[in-house]
Amino acid sequence: MNRIVLKLGIIMMGLILAVLLPLGFVADKIFSNFYYNQITEEISELSHKYASSITSLDDDAMINMFKSLAYFTNKDIYITNAIGEVIAHTGIQIPLTNNELRHLSKGKSVQKNFEDRETSNTYLSYGHPIVFSDTFEGSFFVLTSVDDAHEPAHKIRDLLILSAVGAFFVGLGITFFLARKMSKPLIEMERATREIARGNLDIRVNTIPNDELGSLGKAINDLAVETNEYRTNRSELFANISHELRTPITYLKGYANALKNNLYKTEEEKQQYLTIIETESDHILRLINDLFDLSKMEEGQANLQRETVNLLEIVETSILKIKIELEKKGLKLVTEINRKSDLLIYADGIRVEQIFINLLVNAIQYTEKGSICMKVWGTKNNVHIVIEDTGIGIPEEDLPLVFERFHRVEKSRSRDYGGTGLGLAIVKNLVEIQDGNITVSSKRNKGTKFELSFPRVE
Ligand SMILES: Nc1ncnc2c1ncn2[C@@H]1O[C@H](COP(=O)(O)OP(=O)(O)OP(=O)(O)O)[C@@H](O)[C@H]1O
Ligand SMILES: [Mg+2]
Repeated sequence: MNRIVLKLGIIMMGLILAVLLPLGFVADKIFSNFYYNQITEEISELSHKYASSITSLDDDAMINMFKSLAYFTNKDIYITNAIGEVIAHTGIQIPLTNNELRHLSKGKSVQKNFEDRETSNTYLSYGHPIVFSDTFEGSFFVLTSVDDAHEPAHKIRDLLILSAVGAFFVGLGITFFLARKMSKPLIEMERATREIARGNLDIRVNTIPNDELGSLGKAINDLAVETNEYRTNRSELFANISHELRTPITYLKGYANALKNNLYKTEEEKQQYLTIIETESDHILRLINDLFDLSKMEEGQANLQRETVNLLEIVETSILKIKIELEKKGLKLVTEINRKSDLLIYADGIRVEQIFINLLVNAIQYTEKGSICMKVWGTKNNVHIVIEDTGIGIPEEDLPLVFERFHRVEKSRSRDYGGTGLGLAIVKNLVEIQDGNITVSSKRNKGTKFELSFPRVE
């Protein structure tokens, strides 16, 4: 018996009892009072009738007639004279007090209860004065056992208890059935969550009721899917990182080894080896820095220093910084920049510059001849930047993937260009965390075009 079923069951049964017990108690009281009042009224009425219909206290025949009447109505009677002495009775006689006698002599009725010590029966009696031609002659009492009054109430109480016990057991059955039904998805979810925690991410919650529990079940399933994706991503990332590190480290090891064992012929060759070691170290360092940058951005901890900056100034410095690379490759830079008015954006200037430099360096890297074009203009709400080249282009099937970590078109050739495939992933993250947007379009061997926009501020 799982505990949640027990708890739910106990709570529901407690509720049922909390309703049934007071209800039964009140019903019992109502019935008892009802019968008590009814019987009091009855004996009061009877004693009144008898007292007014009796015509003589000495007539034995008449007294006997009243006794048999009492017998047939299942009541007892006793008759007193004017000084309170009992002159006739059917078995039980209760002495009158002076007070009661005074009351009766004044024409009032008297109600008195009496407990028979021997049988410990309580009797209820009602007496009316007997008056013959305006003189008080005695009193006529009709009495009955209180137990008689309570008997129907007791019967009803027994019935009530019986139906309460019945209701209790029916309730018990229904409660445990419902509690089981309600707790079943919960128990399944608990098991599923445990399995997920253990690493079994293919498990799913199958019982999805149409309520909050159902939402919880769906949330657990989503969690399993998300965690699975995360795990796949993570292992892919580790595989990529180790792959990316392996090549430069193999170079480092090889050339360091060659130097150590004096495997070079000339001083020039030695310098060459050292340069390779330096370049590969730089490559590893850049890879690590880029990865660190990316992971910080993906965790939402990019630490941006955002302020209102003039986009035109950033564009100028970015162009200045790539100028040497551009000239080395003999490429032309075409700019279409509207310098008439400032283009203000709310961003981290250094990070925006990083975006442009990354895109411009790519354009230079992947263009052998022709030109690189940079256009900048503003509309009412946005600023727009286009960086376009006449390079090798990106195949259509690679276009949706170029912003992903480590994605490179033709991996082996990209390595010749010195890339790690993190540049565009960083660019996309940087654009998006500064509320911007970036899209790419390209034609193979024709060129590539990156279009960016940022919200403009006044
Ligand atoms: N302007 C471009 N023209 C042609 N291909 C491009 C261009 N920009 C990016 N690519 C392709 O997209 C890939 C991903 O670019 P990304 O900048 O992310 O990586 P990378 O340049 O290889 O390495 P990194 O920038 O990290 O040094 C590149 O490997 C390249 O194949
Ligand atoms: Mg790049």
